[in-house]
Amino acid sequence: MKVQVGIIGGGPSGLLLSQLLHLKGIDTIVLEKHSREHVLGRIRAGVLEHGFADLMREAECGARMDREGEIHTGLYIAHDGIRERIDLAKYSGGNSVMVYGQTELTRDLYEARDKAGGIVIHNAGDVQPHGIETDAPYLTWREDGVERRADCEFIIGADGFHGVSRKSIPRGVLREYERVYPFGWLGVLSRTRPVSPELIYARHDRGFALCSLRSQVLSRYYIQVPLSDRVEDWSDDAFWDELRRRLPQDVAEALITGPSIEKSIAPLRSFVAEPMRHGRLFLAGDAAHIVPPTGARGLNSAASDIYYLYHALVDHYHNSDDIGLETYSQRALARIWKAQRFSWWMTMLLHTFPDAIPYDRRLQRTELEYLFSSDMAKGSFAENYVGLPF
Ligand code: APR
Ligand code: PHB
Repeated sequence: MKVQVGIIGGGPSGLLLSQLLHLKGIDTIVLEKHSREHVLGRIRAGVLEHGFADLMREAECGARMDREGEIHTGLYIAHDGIRERIDLAKYSGGNSVMVYGQTELTRDLYEARDKAGGIVIHNAGDVQPHGIETDAPYLTWREDGVERRADCEFIIGADGFHGVSRKSIPRGVLREYERVYPFGWLGVLSRTRPVSPELIYARHDRGFALCSLRSQVLSRYYIQVPLSDRVEDWSDDAFWDELRRRLPQDVAEALITGPSIEKSIAPLRSFVAEPMRHGRLFLAGDAAHIVPPTGARGLNSAASDIYYLYHALVDHYHNSDDIGLETYSQRALARIWKAQRFSWWMTMLLHTFPDAIPYDRRLQRTELEYLFSSDMAKGSFAENYVGLPF
């Protein structure tokens, strides 16, 4: 088989790129290790930058998002028993975010690929990129016990943090930057009315908490927990009790609880691999970088890479212009590092660090005071949260 672009990974990055390229007449194959049910069974974040929402519309996948998603023009930060609102629209020149779950977005992308007859191979075993340093790269994989091969002009590694793409770049080429945080987030999804129509990020001495939502009947809550905790240690009741303790009293009293539909612990990590291109292999999304979820940048960072890659590939195929491909890594990383900075900053601002010295804790308070006392600081927060320009 011969295709122009071979994509490893059928998560949001790989699917979105494949759909955007299809609309420009560029053919792709997507090789996904797991079944579609498995991919759609993962519960992930759900806050989309306005530029990402536009990219979904450009991919002709925005109809359900626009119908069912919620536009949020503000959010709350709770601390010391109160909550303060940041008006994202006011401080970002009228922009906002779209609250729409990654699972639903991925479902929309799959449907679009199906409708267009796109090739998405599920349960692709032992996917391997080959010849990435040559002009004739190809992919091999196993499908129902049979060895398969696709020759392509470019290979996109959109196979997440644990994928094979990044590992196939020779040692010594990549530089990796990493910070592991000494805690995780315990998340609960429940079929209950959200306590607040807008997200509440809460700082508390007992640890961070977040009140988020998927819709007005589906809530998503998180609390910071030590890395040693296991999900089995947390009954639903224990979770709700701890969440209440970390919220301002009026919020805690308004909280509607119910059985958890999903409960999991995610460790927090910041990670970037540079460069994001080696020969004919281009990394995108979680394959190249990870953020802690605090600023909701994970999925958005993936979309940012896809924006640059999409334009670079269209320029290559339609305009014989390779500048976008040549500069992909620099351009993508420039934006990625800003998302890293914002996620790191929000994580430092709102979590309780077990090894913090009194000076650190005092500084953390001052950082919050400054945020709420300065329109410039709120402006900086808002422009980062709604998404910096591409
Ligand atoms: N071969 C083929 N597919 C693979 C392989 C492999 N060796 N390894 C992993 N995959 C698949 C995974 O099963 C997954 O479906 O690649 C896909 C990668 O998807 P994600 O991990 O969701 O990564 P990405 O598409 O970059 O999505 C952006 O950012 O912060 C996060 O929550 C956010 O998951 C979202 C991600
Ligand atoms: C979520 O709804 O899962 C969510 C929202 C905002 C974040 C992280 C996660 O910063």
